[in-house]
Amino acid sequence: MSIKTATLNGVATIEIARPEKKNALTVAMYQAMADALHAAREDAAVRAVLITGQPGVFTSGNDIEDFMTRAPGQGIDALDSPVLRFMRALLECDKPVVAAVTGAAIGIGTTMLLHCDFVYVSDEARLAMPFVALGLVPEFASSLIVPQLMGHRRAAEKLLLGDPFTPEQAVECGIANAVLPASEVVNHARRVAERFNALPPGAVREAKQLLRAPQAQQTLAVIRSESEIFARRLRSPEAMEAFQAFFQKRKPDFSKF
Ligand code: COA
Repeated sequence: MSIKTATLNGVATIEIARPEKKNALTVAMYQAMADALHAAREDAAVRAVLITGQPGVFTSGNDIEDFMTRAPGQGIDALDSPVLRFMRALLECDKPVVAAVTGAAIGIGTTMLLHCDFVYVSDEARLAMPFVALGLVPEFASSLIVPQLMGHRRAAEKLLLGDPFTPEQAVECGIANAVLPASEVVNHARRVAERFNALPPGAVREAKQLLRAPQAQQTLAVIRSESEIFARRLRSPEAMEAFQAFFQKRKPDFSKF
């Protein structure tokens, strides 16, 4: 199974484990992660959630083959699509979520960090949101949150040009808490998650809700508009050219559009 889950010492760990495809996320993996988040929420013994990847890669984002083969009306644009279920479970998780970014975090790999409470990044990681280069648009409220965090100009570098950024830049612009040596990032994130064993869970839950509440409605409204455009763009000739170019290991050619 490409998603491994385990609960130990109050922490539910969700480990993305598909190293042969750089941890690209398939529909089945989103489903498993959504289920794991729901289970963590229900389990009173769980005080925090840890999301982690493999050495050198957190996730290379949505599986591009899934993007290509999905039929219209299914997948990201369906209200009950696994990716939407996962992101909704993340947004609605009332327990603290800690991310250990063990390496490359691309596309939704970076987007999901915007909805975690604590983010620790390996010094070997690179983050990127190359949606436009793939013929797509920002997703899951990144078009709202990224400019809020860093201002329009720096958000444009990341969301329009898709420029990758370093762990240090992720901390500087408020996406991450700290940069850790690659060998320590998971243990550090786990220690932070375990601190919630000593804190009152009811107060943690209500405090987290208060932190999120002011922007919750706007976030959902933005996700709705982004998802509509994203679904349309998935079927666009521009996106098809980008996906085919990825698998043919060549540069996409957008000159004909
Ligand atoms: N979807 C499907 N397959 C993917 C993938 C993805 N998002 N990312 C990597 N893979 C596959 C590659 O096709 C390759 O498969 P192969 O061995 O059958 O040829 C394998 O994983 C290894 O990837 P490769 O590109 O050779 O590794 P790398 O170390 O040179 O580069 C990345 C790693 C993450 C930088 C690079 O794979 C990448 O840019 N991936 C796509 C990122 C992306 O655009 N994601 C979508 C965002 S919306």
